[in-house]
Amino acid sequence: MRLSRYFLPVLKETPSEAQIASHRLMLRAGMVKQQAAGIYSWLPLGQKVLRRIEQIVHEEQQRAGHIPVLMPTLQSADLWRESGRYDAYGDELLRITDRHKRDMLYGPTNEEMITDIFRSNVNSYKDLPLTLYHIQWKFRDEMRPRFGVMRGREFLMKDGYNFDLTKEDALHAYNRHLVSYLRTYERMGLQAIPMRADSGPIGGDDTHEFLVLADTGESEVFYDSEITDLRFGDREIDYDSVEQCQAVLEEFTSRYARTDETHDEAVFAKVPEERRRTARGIEVGQIFYFGTKYSEPMGATVVGPDGQRTPVHMGSHGIGVSRLVGAIIEANHDDKGIIWPEGVTPFHVGIVNLKQGDASVDSACEALYRELTAKGFEVLYDDRDERAGAKFATMDLIGLPWRITVGPRGLQNNKVELTSRRSGESEEISPADAMARLEKIYQPVFDAAK
Ligand SMILES: Nc1ncnc2c1ncn2[C@@H]1O[C@H](COP(=O)(O)OP(=O)(O)OP(=O)(O)O)[C@@H](O)[C@H]1O
Ligand SMILES: [Mg+2]
Repeated sequence: MRLSRYFLPVLKETPSEAQIASHRLMLRAGMVKQQAAGIYSWLPLGQKVLRRIEQIVHEEQQRAGHIPVLMPTLQSADLWRESGRYDAYGDELLRITDRHKRDMLYGPTNEEMITDIFRSNVNSYKDLPLTLYHIQWKFRDEMRPRFGVMRGREFLMKDGYNFDLTKEDALHAYNRHLVSYLRTYERMGLQAIPMRADSGPIGGDDTHEFLVLADTGESEVFYDSEITDLRFGDREIDYDSVEQCQAVLEEFTSRYARTDETHDEAVFAKVPEERRRTARGIEVGQIFYFGTKYSEPMGATVVGPDGQRTPVHMGSHGIGVSRLVGAIIEANHDDKGIIWPEGVTPFHVGIVNLKQGDASVDSACEALYRELTAKGFEVLYDDRDERAGAKFATMDLIGLPWRITVGPRGLQNNKVELTSRRSGESEEISPADAMARLEKIYQPVFDAAK
């Protein structure tokens, strides 16, 4: 993409309505525009990051054996009357009436609808286990939408639902989700810690929330500092293996880590004092096992091996796709702007032309742009007729992790500058070496997608 032809409406001023860094930076970098309280348009740069996050979520869900579907945003109230949630959900549920005076709602989650799909199509235990998921816009009429996309009213969420014959099988599905979430967040450059949580209006007994530690987080959390040393890394896992998934769950949940809803001072006191931490966190996902809470009232049953009909055991598992954009920025920025992790950056590399119109600089930039693109990189080439300072400020603000700067002086020795946004360090190297370095840097990111 050439910046001269792109749509990147960056703001010079810091918007006064934004209270936290990620919200300020998303507005300044021209990623989103607010359309109403808690409702946003995603401008090109924001849309790209959102799609990258979505893509990672899809890849990791499917790696775990989960099957994508797409359900509508609008749902019939009758389905929600079957589970009892039409009345129980409260004011966060946006209720709508159509022209025939039928009660509808804008889905805040999809347990009822997916259960309906299941009961209409599945009859035998032989079709289990089954996990279906989608990534779709949700609406919750939050009392206080704030912090930009972090607490919106309309937001993008991945929600997945497992259907199993027994509680044991459903707990394996729970563990499988936990493992796949660890991989998912690490690919985005985030550490999200599973913490014991409260189940809220979804209902159920077993639940973990995934929290990214950040001072601006809305949840208060309590944990054993040893937990922050854990990494999933690039280990291979067989998602069908009950033992392997269970072992990962135990590894990541055996130390104390709870949100304020389940925090227990007496248990926390058993953690050695120097390891006890109280902090704030951003909830970026949650997994639930809730047994037959929906399958029973809604009649989602299968014929078991013994010929008897039994309600299926279910769970639901969410990832806050649009909230993640804000959470990643909260965890990765400095006073100049955003610093994207390589896994989610909207463009892999930026090219800054220091002397637009100079034949040799222009052609060196064009060659880099062409060759990098041919190698599968997404490149943002700043080909505007602007001074260097303004180009650097834009690149720093939008946070591409790598920048190649091309100027007439360096080119005399066949040198360009490769700069890391995170460390600020630059190397003077040949264009060919810069490309080789980028290939090496991004190899793990491209490999992770396989
Ligand atoms: N209003 C919102 N705006 C953006 N993302 C949200 C919002 N509400 C929930 N999410 C995201 O969707 C994920 C799954 O939804 P879930 O039902 O667990 O939300 P929740 O527990 O009600 O969230 P919260 O406690 O933050 O209100 C959450 O972990 C969060 O990342
Ligand atoms: Mg939650």
